[in-house]
Amino acid sequence: MQGHFFFLLVHIAVSAAFEQQYFFPLSAARIPDDKIAHTILARALDDGIDLSAFAFSGPALHEIVFWSHWNESAEFPRALLEPGQNATTIDVHAHYAPEWYGDIRQDNTVWTLRNQLTHMANQSIAESIFSIPNPNIFLGDKNATLAIARLLNENMATLARVLPRRFGFFATTPLPYTDASIVEAKYALDSLGALGVALSSNHEGHYLGDALFTPFFTEMDNKHAIIFVHPIEPLLKVNETFVKANPTVYSPVLAEFYFETARTFLDLALSQTLTNFSSLDFIIPHLGGSFLSIIDRSIPPSQLLDDVMAALRRRCWWDSAGLTYGHQLGGLLAYDISPTFLLYGSDYPYIPSSLVDASSKAIEESPFLNMTQKREVKSRNALGLFAGRKRDENL
Ligand SMILES: *[C@@H]1O[C@H](CO)[C@@H](O)[C@H](O)[C@H]1NC(C)=O
Ligand SMILES: *[C@@H]1O[C@H](CO)[C@@H](O)[C@H](O)[C@H]1NC(C)=O
Ligand SMILES: *[C@@H]1O[C@H](CO)[C@@H](O)[C@H](O)[C@H]1NC(C)=O
Ligand SMILES: *[C@@H]1O[C@H](CO)[C@@H](O)[C@H](O)[C@H]1NC(C)=O
Ligand SMILES: *[C@@H]1O[C@H](CO)[C@@H](O)[C@H](O)[C@H]1NC(C)=O
Ligand SMILES: *[C@@H]1O[C@H](CO)[C@@H](O)[C@H](O)[C@H]1NC(C)=O
Ligand SMILES: *[C@@H]1O[C@H](CO)[C@@H](O)[C@H](O)[C@H]1NC(C)=O
Repeated sequence: MQGHFFFLLVHIAVSAAFEQQYFFPLSAARIPDDKIAHTILARALDDGIDLSAFAFSGPALHEIVFWSHWNESAEFPRALLEPGQNATTIDVHAHYAPEWYGDIRQDNTVWTLRNQLTHMANQSIAESIFSIPNPNIFLGDKNATLAIARLLNENMATLARVLPRRFGFFATTPLPYTDASIVEAKYALDSLGALGVALSSNHEGHYLGDALFTPFFTEMDNKHAIIFVHPIEPLLKVNETFVKANPTVYSPVLAEFYFETARTFLDLALSQTLTNFSSLDFIIPHLGGSFLSIIDRSIPPSQLLDDVMAALRRRCWWDSAGLTYGHQLGGLLAYDISPTFLLYGSDYPYIPSSLVDASSKAIEESPFLNMTQKREVKSRNALGLFAGRKRDENL
C-alpha cells in the first residue's frame, strides 16, 4: 500500500496538467457527438426513455464519454490504478457523486478519481462498490426519474468497465415506477454488469414493503439479486405535494437515516416481502440502523418472527458504515447474527475522511470481534456474498 501511495504522490506532483484534464469530471450543456453517447441514447429510447428531453443529459453523457475513453490516453496511469499489495478490503457502501448529479440535487459533494483512489489507498481498499440510491430528485416526474436512473447506471457501469478490479456497482432503480424499475434493473444486471440493485428506504414516500413493489421483488427474486438499501430523508405527501418530514432541527443524517432504515425493514418484514422472496440477499446499511432494536416490540412471538429472524440471520448482511463498532455492534450480535455476515462500508465521499478513519479505528478496537473476524469483515465475508455473482474473478 505504501508503494501505491508513493506512486500516487509522485503522480500528483508531476502532472498537474494531466489532472486538470483527467481527474476532474467534465461538464457541458450539449449531447456529445460520440458513438458511445449515441448508443446510450438509442438503448434508452428502446426502453421508452428519451434522454434528449432533459438538460442534465448533456453533462451526464459527457461524463460517461469522458470515462469511457479515459483508459486510451497515453498517460493512463496503470500502476496508480492497481490495488496496493496489502489492499484487500471490499467496500460495499461507497458512493459515486458525479458533478451533474450533484448539480441537480444541489449538493456540492465533490467526487474525483484522485480522491477516491487516495481514500482507497488510505483504507487499504481493493474494490469499491458504488451505489447512488436516489434518482427521485424531481418528485412525481416519472420521465425525469427514469432518465436519471439510466444515466447513473451507464455512468457507474463505465467506471466499473474501465477499472474492473477497483470498481463495481449496484444499479439505481427508478422506483416507485415498478414496471420501469424492472426494465432498468434487468438491463443493469444483465447488460451493464451491476452486482445488485440499490434501493432507497422510501421512494416518493412508499416504503419497500408497499404492495406496489411486489412485482419488482418477484423479478429480483428470480434473479437471486443482492438488494442494497440506503436511507434517505422521509417524505410525506400532503395535498398532492411532497414535504420533507424530518421533524427535528437536526440533519436527517444524524437520526432520521437510522429510523428510515428501521421503517423500511419493518415494512419489508411485516409485508412478508423479506420472507416470501427467499432468494434475495439484503445489505442493511449502518449495521441495521435502529431496525433490530424495534423487532421484539413490533413483531410479537410468532411464526412470522421466527421466519424474519431466520432471514435476518441467513440472507441479510450488515455494513459497518458510520461509527457502528463501538457499542452498536454488541446489540446486533445479541440477536444471534453471525459475524460472517458483517461487511465493511466506508460511505465515502459523503463522509469526510476523518470519520472514515475513526470508523476504521472503531473496527480495529471493537471489543466484540477477534482479529480474525475483523479481517473477515473487510474482505472474506463480502467474497462469500458475491461468490458466483461477480463477473470479475479477481474480486
Ligand atoms: C504489507 O503487509 C506486510 C505484513 O504486514 C508488511 O510487511 C509489508 O510492508 C506491507 N506492504 C506494504 C506495501 O504496505
Ligand atoms: C414521457 O416520455 C414518454 C416517452 O418518451 C413521452 O411519450 C411522454 O410524452 C413523456 N411525458 C411527459 C409528461 O413528458
Ligand atoms: C488520506 O490520508 C491522508 C493522511 O492521513 C489524509 O491527509 C487525506 O485527507 C486522506 N485522503 C482521503 C481522500 O481519504
Ligand atoms: C479500455 O477499456 C476497455 C473497456 O471499456 C477495454 O476494452 C480496452 O481494452 C481498454 N484499453 C486499454 C488501453 O486498457
Ligand atoms: C389541503 O388543501 C385543502 C383545500 O385546498 C385545504 O383546505 C387544507 O388546509 C390543505 N391541507 C394542508 C395540510 O395543507
Ligand atoms: C407473502 O405471502 C403471504 C402468504 O402466502 C401472502 O399473504 C402475502 O401477501 C405475501 N406478501 C408479499 C409481499 O408477497
Ligand atoms: C475468533 O472467533 C471465532 C469464533 O468464535 C473462532 O472460531 C476463532 O478461532 C477465533 N480466532 C482467534 C484468532 O481467536
